[in-house]
Amino acid sequence: METDLLLKLSAVLHVIGVVIWIGGVAFVTVVLFPMIHALDDPMEKALLFQRVEHRFAKIARLMIVIVGVTGLYNLYGKGLYLLLPTREGWWLDLMIGVFTAYALLIFGLEKALFKKIFKDIKNLNADQIFFRMTLFHWVVLALSLLAVAGGVIGTY
Ligand code: HEM
Repeated sequence: METDLLLKLSAVLHVIGVVIWIGGVAFVTVVLFPMIHALDDPMEKALLFQRVEHRFAKIARLMIVIVGVTGLYNLYGKGLYLLLPTREGWWLDLMIGVFTAYALLIFGLEKALFKKIFKDIKNLNADQIFFRMTLFHWVVLALSLLAVAGGVIGTY
């Protein structure tokens, strides 16, 4: 009975973490980027982007930890880990795959990836840099939403 309650609580925390985290990514991609794009001054653009991303990165890190811990708890608590190598477990594999890519990105790979995306930064103008950043965020958002859809379909 108590375990049941803990599993429910953990599932609620899992979804709250997902909502704040993916909601933040959606906000940055859909609201902040077009706002930045509309600014004329390149310095102002860079500062606004840096301030918001800097703040959001801290929140995203905390949410990643919450989503990971609660996900693992329910994965084992409900015995769902048995589904991981099977076809029915595709939604779990998808969630864990997207989560791992994200966690690696935010806890270290981001700099390496940005170096690759912007390896020719000296030859790019502000609009081209901004275009690549926007594209990158759309890809991340699309993958995140795919994981959300997988989670809902899988538990339905
Ligand atoms: C990008 C990361 C993730 C997203 C967007 C995500 C999203 C979701 C969503 C939307 C649900 C469905 C909740 C419901 O309809 O009841 C769910 C359930 C679940 N997730 Fe995730 N998840 C992520 C990462 C993970 C990770 C890393 C794990 C395991 C290590 C995990 C394990 C689970 C389990 C076991 C459930 C089923 C919970 C239950 O039936 O009580 N998730 N997830």
